[in-house]
Amino acid sequence: MKRIAVLTSGGDSPGMNAATRAVVRTGLARGFEMFGVRRGYAGLIGGEILPLGARDVGGIIHLGGTMLGTSRCVEFKSDAGQQEAMQQLQRQRISSLVVIGGNGSQSGAHALAARGMAVIGIASTIDNDVPCVDVSIGSTTALDIALEAIDRLRTTAAAVERAFLVEVMGRDSGYLALMAALAGGAEAVVIPEVETHPEALAARLRAARFRGKSHAIVVVAEGAKYNAHALDCYFREHTARLGFDLRVTRLGHVQRGGAPNVFDRLIGTQLGAAAIEHIATRQHGVMLGISGGAVSATPLSQMIAARKTLDLRLLDLANVLEQ
Ligand code: ADP
Ligand code: F6P
Repeated sequence: MKRIAVLTSGGDSPGMNAATRAVVRTGLARGFEMFGVRRGYAGLIGGEILPLGARDVGGIIHLGGTMLGTSRCVEFKSDAGQQEAMQQLQRQRISSLVVIGGNGSQSGAHALAARGMAVIGIASTIDNDVPCVDVSIGSTTALDIALEAIDRLRTTAAAVERAFLVEVMGRDSGYLALMAALAGGAEAVVIPEVETHPEALAARLRAARFRGKSHAIVVVAEGAKYNAHALDCYFREHTARLGFDLRVTRLGHVQRGGAPNVFDRLIGTQLGAAAIEHIATRQHGVMLGISGGAVSATPLSQMIAARKTLDLRLLDLANVLEQ
Protein backbone atom coordinates (compact mmCIF):
# COMPACT_ATOMS: atom_id res chain seq x y z
CA MET A 1 0.00 0.00 0.00
CA LYS A 2 1.24 3.50 -0.85
CA ARG A 3 2.47 5.57 2.09
CA ILE A 4 2.06 9.28 1.34
CA ALA A 5 3.31 12.21 3.43
CA VAL A 6 2.29 15.86 3.30
CA LEU A 7 4.15 18.92 4.60
CA THR A 8 3.66 22.68 4.67
CA SER A 9 6.71 24.90 4.27
CA GLY A 10 7.82 28.55 4.22
CA GLY A 11 5.40 31.30 5.21
CA ASP A 12 2.03 29.89 6.27
CA SER A 13 -0.93 30.96 4.16
CA PRO A 14 -4.67 30.73 4.83
CA GLY A 15 -6.03 27.65 3.07
CA MET A 16 -3.02 25.42 3.76
CA ASN A 17 -5.19 23.52 6.25
CA ALA A 18 -7.91 22.98 3.67
CA ALA A 19 -5.28 21.55 1.32
CA THR A 20 -3.80 19.30 4.03
CA ARG A 21 -7.27 18.01 4.94
CA ALA A 22 -8.09 17.26 1.30
CA VAL A 23 -4.77 15.48 0.71
CA VAL A 24 -5.26 13.29 3.79
CA ARG A 25 -8.92 12.46 3.30
CA THR A 26 -8.80 11.82 -0.45
CA GLY A 27 -5.68 9.73 0.13
CA LEU A 28 -7.43 7.66 2.80
CA ALA A 29 -10.47 7.28 0.52
CA ARG A 30 -8.18 5.68 -2.09
CA GLY A 31 -6.83 3.26 0.49
CA PHE A 32 -3.42 4.98 0.93
CA GLU A 33 -1.70 5.31 4.29
CA MET A 34 -1.34 8.99 5.09
CA PHE A 35 1.35 10.82 7.10
CA GLY A 36 2.03 14.40 8.08
CA VAL A 37 5.47 15.96 8.45
CA ARG A 38 5.67 18.53 11.25
CA ARG A 39 7.45 21.90 10.73
CA GLY A 40 8.20 21.65 6.99
CA TYR A 41 11.67 20.62 5.86
CA ALA A 42 13.07 21.08 9.38
CA GLY A 43 10.70 18.38 10.63
CA LEU A 44 11.50 16.21 7.63
CA ILE A 45 15.21 16.29 8.46
CA GLY A 46 14.33 15.62 12.10
CA GLY A 47 12.12 12.65 11.20
CA GLU A 48 8.94 14.22 12.59
CA ILE A 49 6.64 12.11 10.44
CA LEU A 50 3.35 11.07 12.02
CA PRO A 51 0.43 8.95 10.77
CA LEU A 52 -2.69 10.97 10.02
CA GLY A 53 -6.27 9.70 10.10
CA ALA A 54 -9.46 11.41 8.97
CA ARG A 55 -10.17 12.72 12.49
CA ASP A 56 -6.69 14.25 12.78
CA VAL A 57 -7.55 16.75 10.05
CA GLY A 58 -11.03 17.52 11.39
CA GLY A 59 -12.00 21.03 12.51
CA ILE A 60 -9.23 22.78 10.57
CA ILE A 61 -10.77 23.86 7.26
CA HIS A 62 -11.79 27.22 8.71
CA LEU A 63 -8.46 27.95 10.39
CA GLY A 64 -5.55 30.04 9.10
CA GLY A 65 -1.98 28.97 9.79
CA THR A 66 -1.18 25.29 9.33
CA MET A 67 -1.92 22.44 11.73
CA LEU A 68 1.28 20.70 10.56
CA GLY A 69 3.45 23.68 11.48
CA THR A 70 5.93 25.22 9.07
CA SER A 71 9.48 26.57 9.02
CA ARG A 72 12.21 28.19 6.99
CA CYS A 73 15.03 25.65 7.08
CA VAL A 74 18.48 26.70 5.89
CA GLU A 75 19.90 23.21 6.53
CA PHE A 76 17.59 21.72 3.90
CA LYS A 77 19.24 23.79 1.18
CA SER A 78 22.47 21.84 1.64
CA ASP A 79 23.35 18.49 0.13
CA ALA A 80 23.65 16.97 3.61
CA GLY A 81 20.23 18.30 4.63
CA GLN A 82 18.55 16.90 1.55
CA GLN A 83 20.28 13.53 1.97
CA GLU A 84 19.06 13.34 5.56
CA ALA A 85 15.52 14.25 4.46
CA MET A 86 15.59 11.45 1.84
CA GLN A 87 16.84 8.98 4.43
CA GLN A 88 14.04 9.90 6.81
CA LEU A 89 11.47 9.36 4.04
CA GLN A 90 13.04 6.02 3.15
CA ARG A 91 13.17 4.94 6.82
CA GLN A 92 9.42 5.55 7.08
CA ARG A 93 8.86 3.88 3.68
CA ILE A 94 7.17 7.00 2.32
CA SER A 95 6.66 6.58 -1.43
CA SER A 96 5.25 10.03 -2.26
CA LEU A 97 5.44 13.50 -0.74
CA VAL A 98 3.11 16.48 -1.15
CA VAL A 99 4.78 19.86 -0.56
CA ILE A 100 2.43 22.78 0.12
CA GLY A 101 4.27 26.12 -0.04
CA GLY A 102 5.66 28.99 -2.09
CA ASN A 103 8.61 29.41 -4.45
CA GLY A 104 11.33 28.32 -2.02
CA SER A 105 9.35 25.29 -0.91
CA GLN A 106 8.80 24.25 -4.54
CA SER A 107 12.57 24.54 -5.16
CA GLY A 108 12.95 22.14 -2.25
CA ALA A 109 10.34 19.84 -3.79
CA HIS A 110 12.31 19.89 -7.05
CA ALA A 111 15.51 19.01 -5.17
CA LEU A 112 13.81 15.95 -3.63
CA ALA A 113 12.33 14.97 -7.00
CA ALA A 114 15.85 15.12 -8.49
CA ARG A 115 16.91 12.65 -5.78
CA GLY A 116 14.21 10.19 -6.86
CA MET A 117 11.29 11.03 -4.57
CA ALA A 118 7.81 11.13 -6.13
CA VAL A 119 6.84 14.69 -5.25
CA ILE A 120 3.80 16.83 -5.95
CA GLY A 121 3.93 20.55 -5.14
CA ILE A 122 0.96 22.75 -4.33
CA ALA A 123 1.38 26.52 -4.83
CA SER A 124 0.55 28.19 -1.53
CA THR A 125 1.73 31.64 -0.48
CA ILE A 126 0.03 34.93 0.27
CA ASP A 127 2.53 36.65 -2.06
CA ASN A 128 1.03 35.14 -5.25
CA ASP A 129 4.49 35.21 -6.82
CA VAL A 130 4.64 31.55 -7.90
CA PRO A 131 5.28 31.28 -11.65
CA CYS A 132 2.98 29.31 -13.93
CA VAL A 133 -0.09 29.76 -11.72
CA ASP A 134 -2.62 32.59 -11.68
CA VAL A 135 -3.43 32.41 -8.00
CA SER A 136 -1.78 30.65 -5.07
CA ILE A 137 -3.56 29.48 -1.93
CA GLY A 138 -3.86 32.29 0.64
CA SER A 139 -3.37 35.33 -1.56
CA THR A 140 -7.03 36.36 -1.81
CA THR A 141 -7.53 36.02 1.95
CA ALA A 142 -4.45 38.21 2.52
CA LEU A 143 -5.98 40.74 0.12
CA ASP A 144 -9.29 40.65 1.98
CA ILE A 145 -7.44 41.47 5.19
CA ALA A 146 -5.44 44.28 3.58
CA LEU A 147 -8.64 45.70 2.12
CA GLU A 148 -10.43 45.68 5.44
CA ALA A 149 -7.52 47.65 6.91
CA ILE A 150 -7.51 50.09 3.97
CA ASP A 151 -11.26 50.66 4.27
CA ARG A 152 -10.87 51.35 8.00
CA LEU A 153 -7.97 53.71 7.41
CA ARG A 154 -9.95 55.59 4.80
CA THR A 155 -12.72 56.42 7.24
CA THR A 156 -10.29 58.03 9.67
CA ALA A 157 -8.25 59.62 6.84
CA ALA A 158 -11.45 61.21 5.52
CA ALA A 159 -12.42 62.45 8.97
CA VAL A 160 -9.11 64.16 9.68
CA GLU A 161 -8.31 65.10 6.06
CA ARG A 162 -4.83 63.64 6.01
CA ALA A 163 -2.66 61.24 4.02
CA PHE A 164 -2.32 57.69 5.32
CA LEU A 165 0.18 55.10 4.17
CA VAL A 166 -0.33 51.36 4.57
CA GLU A 167 2.40 48.81 3.93
CA VAL A 168 1.48 45.31 2.83
CA MET A 169 3.60 42.16 2.57
CA GLY A 170 4.66 40.39 -0.62
CA ARG A 171 8.40 39.95 -0.24
CA ASP A 172 9.91 41.08 -3.61
CA SER A 173 6.56 41.19 -5.35
CA GLY A 174 4.20 44.15 -5.65
CA TYR A 175 1.20 41.92 -6.36
CA LEU A 176 -0.53 42.32 -2.99
CA ALA A 177 0.09 46.07 -2.92
CA LEU A 178 -1.16 46.66 -6.46
CA MET A 179 -4.29 44.54 -6.07
CA ALA A 180 -5.07 46.09 -2.67
CA ALA A 181 -4.57 49.57 -4.14
CA LEU A 182 -6.88 48.84 -7.07
CA ALA A 183 -9.58 47.25 -4.95
CA GLY A 184 -9.21 49.82 -2.16
CA GLY A 185 -9.30 52.85 -4.48
CA ALA A 186 -5.92 54.10 -3.26
CA GLU A 187 -4.59 57.49 -4.35
CA ALA A 188 -1.11 56.03 -4.94
CA VAL A 189 0.70 52.71 -4.92
CA VAL A 190 4.42 52.03 -4.52
CA ILE A 191 5.75 48.65 -5.69
CA PRO A 192 9.21 47.10 -6.10
CA GLU A 193 8.74 46.64 -9.84
CA VAL A 194 8.66 50.42 -10.52
CA GLU A 195 10.77 52.73 -8.38
CA THR A 196 8.88 55.71 -6.98
CA HIS A 197 10.91 58.50 -5.40
CA PRO A 198 9.34 60.13 -2.30
CA GLU A 199 9.32 63.50 -4.12
CA ALA A 200 7.27 61.97 -6.95
CA LEU A 201 4.87 60.50 -4.40
CA ALA A 202 4.57 63.86 -2.63
CA ALA A 203 3.86 65.57 -5.96
CA ARG A 204 1.15 63.02 -6.74
CA LEU A 205 -0.52 63.57 -3.36
CA ARG A 206 -0.29 67.35 -3.70
CA ALA A 207 -1.92 67.10 -7.13
CA ALA A 208 -4.72 64.99 -5.65
CA ARG A 209 -5.27 67.64 -2.97
CA PHE A 210 -5.30 70.32 -5.69
CA ARG A 211 -7.99 68.35 -7.56
CA GLY A 212 -10.16 68.57 -4.45
CA LYS A 213 -9.32 65.35 -2.60
CA SER A 214 -9.51 65.92 1.14
CA HIS A 215 -7.48 62.84 2.10
CA ALA A 216 -5.33 60.10 0.55
CA ILE A 217 -4.45 56.46 0.96
CA VAL A 218 -1.06 55.24 -0.26
CA VAL A 219 -0.44 51.49 -0.47
CA VAL A 220 3.22 50.45 -0.31
CA ALA A 221 4.76 47.03 -0.87
CA GLU A 222 7.26 45.97 1.79
CA GLY A 223 9.77 45.09 -0.95
CA ALA A 224 9.79 48.55 -2.55
CA LYS A 225 13.02 50.53 -2.32
CA TYR A 226 11.05 53.30 -0.64
CA ASN A 227 8.96 51.14 1.67
CA ALA A 228 6.97 52.38 4.70
CA HIS A 229 10.08 52.93 6.79
CA ALA A 230 11.97 54.79 4.07
CA LEU A 231 8.97 56.95 3.14
CA ASP A 232 8.20 57.67 6.79
CA CYS A 233 11.80 58.84 7.38
CA TYR A 234 11.79 60.97 4.24
CA PHE A 235 8.46 62.64 4.93
CA ARG A 236 9.40 63.30 8.59
CA GLU A 237 12.64 64.92 7.51
CA HIS A 238 10.97 67.11 4.88
CA THR A 239 7.53 67.76 6.41
CA ALA A 240 7.89 71.54 6.45
CA ARG A 241 8.86 71.75 2.79
CA LEU A 242 6.43 69.07 1.56
CA GLY A 243 3.58 70.67 3.49
CA PHE A 244 2.11 67.48 4.94
CA ASP A 245 3.09 64.27 6.69
CA LEU A 246 2.06 60.63 6.34
CA ARG A 247 0.43 58.49 9.02
CA VAL A 248 2.00 55.04 8.62
CA THR A 249 0.53 51.57 9.26
CA ARG A 250 2.47 48.37 8.59
CA LEU A 251 0.08 45.44 8.39
CA GLY A 252 2.85 42.85 8.65
CA HIS A 253 1.85 39.36 9.74
CA VAL A 254 -1.75 40.42 10.41
CA GLN A 255 -2.26 39.68 6.70
CA ARG A 256 -1.21 36.06 7.06
CA GLY A 257 -3.17 35.21 10.16
CA GLY A 258 -6.76 35.32 9.00
CA ALA A 259 -9.31 32.57 8.56
CA PRO A 260 -9.24 31.49 4.90
CA ASN A 261 -11.98 32.95 2.72
CA VAL A 262 -14.27 30.76 0.65
CA PHE A 263 -11.98 30.89 -2.40
CA ASP A 264 -8.88 29.74 -0.52
CA ARG A 265 -10.81 26.94 1.18
CA LEU A 266 -12.13 25.78 -2.19
CA ILE A 267 -8.85 25.94 -4.10
CA GLY A 268 -7.01 24.36 -1.15
CA THR A 269 -9.54 21.53 -1.25
CA GLN A 270 -9.38 21.15 -5.04
CA LEU A 271 -5.58 21.22 -5.17
CA GLY A 272 -5.22 18.79 -2.26
CA ALA A 273 -7.53 16.32 -4.00
CA ALA A 274 -5.71 16.83 -7.31
CA ALA A 275 -2.39 16.01 -5.63
CA ILE A 276 -3.68 12.56 -4.66
CA GLU A 277 -5.12 12.07 -8.15
CA HIS A 278 -1.69 12.84 -9.63
CA ILE A 279 0.05 10.44 -7.25
CA ALA A 280 -2.46 7.70 -7.98
CA THR A 281 -1.86 8.10 -11.72
CA ARG A 282 1.92 8.40 -11.29
CA GLN A 283 2.06 11.95 -12.67
CA HIS A 284 4.54 13.27 -10.15
CA GLY A 285 7.32 15.86 -10.39
CA VAL A 286 4.76 18.62 -10.96
CA MET A 287 3.47 21.64 -9.10
CA LEU A 288 -0.27 22.15 -8.97
CA GLY A 289 -1.94 25.54 -8.97
CA ILE A 290 -4.93 27.38 -10.34
CA SER A 291 -4.57 28.77 -13.88
CA GLY A 292 -7.37 29.94 -16.13
CA GLY A 293 -9.85 28.96 -13.45
CA ALA A 294 -8.82 25.31 -13.38
CA VAL A 295 -6.20 23.08 -11.76
CA SER A 296 -2.93 23.21 -13.70
CA ALA A 297 0.14 20.98 -13.41
CA THR A 298 3.58 22.39 -14.28
CA PRO A 299 6.76 20.31 -14.21
CA LEU A 300 8.77 21.40 -11.16
CA SER A 301 11.84 21.77 -13.40
CA GLN A 302 9.95 24.28 -15.55
CA MET A 303 8.46 26.10 -12.58
CA ILE A 304 11.77 26.73 -10.81
CA ALA A 305 13.33 28.17 -13.97
CA ALA A 306 10.45 30.60 -14.50
CA ARG A 307 9.71 33.98 -12.92
CA LYS A 308 6.33 35.53 -12.38
CA THR A 309 5.95 39.11 -13.54
CA LEU A 310 3.35 41.62 -12.55
CA ASP A 311 0.98 42.97 -15.21
CA LEU A 312 2.02 46.62 -15.12
CA ARG A 313 -1.01 47.66 -17.17
CA LEU A 314 -2.81 47.33 -13.84
CA LEU A 315 -0.49 49.96 -12.38
CA ASP A 316 -1.44 52.30 -15.24
CA LEU A 317 -5.08 51.55 -14.50
CA ALA A 318 -4.62 52.31 -10.78
CA ASN A 319 -3.00 55.63 -11.73
CA VAL A 320 -5.88 56.53 -14.06
CA LEU A 321 -8.50 55.58 -11.50
CA GLU A 322 -7.02 57.65 -8.69
CA GLN A 323 -8.05 60.82 -10.54
P1 ADP B 1 8.29 29.97 0.46
O1 ADP B 1 8.17 28.54 0.18
O2 ADP B 1 7.08 30.55 1.13
O3 ADP B 1 8.78 30.76 -0.73
P2 ADP B 1 11.01 30.10 1.56
O4 ADP B 1 11.60 30.81 0.40
O5 ADP B 1 11.43 30.52 2.91
O6 ADP B 1 9.42 30.16 1.59
O7 ADP B 1 11.34 28.57 1.37
C1 ADP B 1 10.90 27.62 2.32
C2 ADP B 1 11.97 26.59 2.52
O8 ADP B 1 12.18 25.88 1.30
C3 ADP B 1 13.33 27.13 2.88
O9 ADP B 1 13.44 27.44 4.25
C4 ADP B 1 14.23 25.97 2.51
O10 ADP B 1 14.20 24.97 3.49
C5 ADP B 1 13.54 25.46 1.25
N1 ADP B 1 14.20 26.02 0.06
C6 ADP B 1 14.16 27.30 -0.36
N2 ADP B 1 14.91 27.47 -1.47
C7 ADP B 1 15.45 26.26 -1.74
C8 ADP B 1 16.35 25.78 -2.76
N3 ADP B 1 16.82 26.57 -3.72
N4 ADP B 1 16.69 24.46 -2.71
C9 ADP B 1 16.22 23.64 -1.75
N5 ADP B 1 15.38 24.05 -0.77
C10 ADP B 1 15.00 25.33 -0.76
O1 F6P C 1 6.18 34.71 1.85
C1 F6P C 1 5.18 35.10 2.75
C2 F6P C 1 5.66 36.26 3.60
O2 F6P C 1 4.62 36.62 4.47
C3 F6P C 1 6.16 37.48 2.82
O3 F6P C 1 5.10 38.29 2.35
C4 F6P C 1 7.02 38.15 3.85
O4 F6P C 1 8.03 38.96 3.24
C5 F6P C 1 7.65 36.98 4.56
O5 F6P C 1 6.79 35.88 4.37
C6 F6P C 1 7.82 37.22 6.03
O6 F6P C 1 8.50 36.12 6.53
P1 F6P C 1 8.64 35.81 8.08
O7 F6P C 1 7.28 35.41 8.57
O8 F6P C 1 9.62 34.69 8.11
O9 F6P C 1 9.08 37.07 8.72
